Amino acid sequence: MMSKEQLNSNISEDGSRRSFLKKVSGLVLIGGVLSQGWFAFKSLNSPGIQQAVNRYKLGQPEDFIDGFTFIEHAKVFVEKRGDEYSALSAVCTHLGCTVKKENSGNTQHFQCPCHRSKFNADGKNIQGPATKPLQYLELTISPDDGQLMVDLSSPIGNRKALVV
Ligand code: FES
Repeated sequence: MMSKEQLNSNISEDGSRRSFLKKVSGLVLIGGVLSQGWFAFKSLNSPGIQQAVNRYKLGQPEDFIDGFTFIEHAKVFVEKRGDEYSALSAVCTHLGCTVKKENSGNTQHFQCPCHRSKFNADGKNIQGPATKPLQYLELTISPDDGQLMVDLSSPIGNRKALVV
């Protein structure tokens, strides 16, 4: 038969053991969540993944017609002039909305629907609030299937044509 003090002592030990186990399991859970988050963060920032995210295939060169073609998944305008191809970002340099191509008479320009910035056909900003031109982007041929491929992480200063 246990005395009242022994019983209280056992209850207290049991309570503190339960509390200790709760704390340990809580720490294990937090550690698991943090380590999974860390691995997810690391994998997103690894060069291979980053490169894959920034490069988009745009289609076979022969499928483009002369002029600008908007490629929605890359937010890029491909301009074809005969056998020359270039890529102009459709991302407005003000706050990042997607600009639209518009025709006015014989000229073309790009208009941002958000705050009405305007860019000429070479991407130069001609009406604010945008203060910078649209970005020309590096265009290459995909080695595996010959499609045009744009690298969104490689803005280039001026129009640079890829001859195909
Ligand atoms: S985001 Fe294009 S004008 Fe503001």
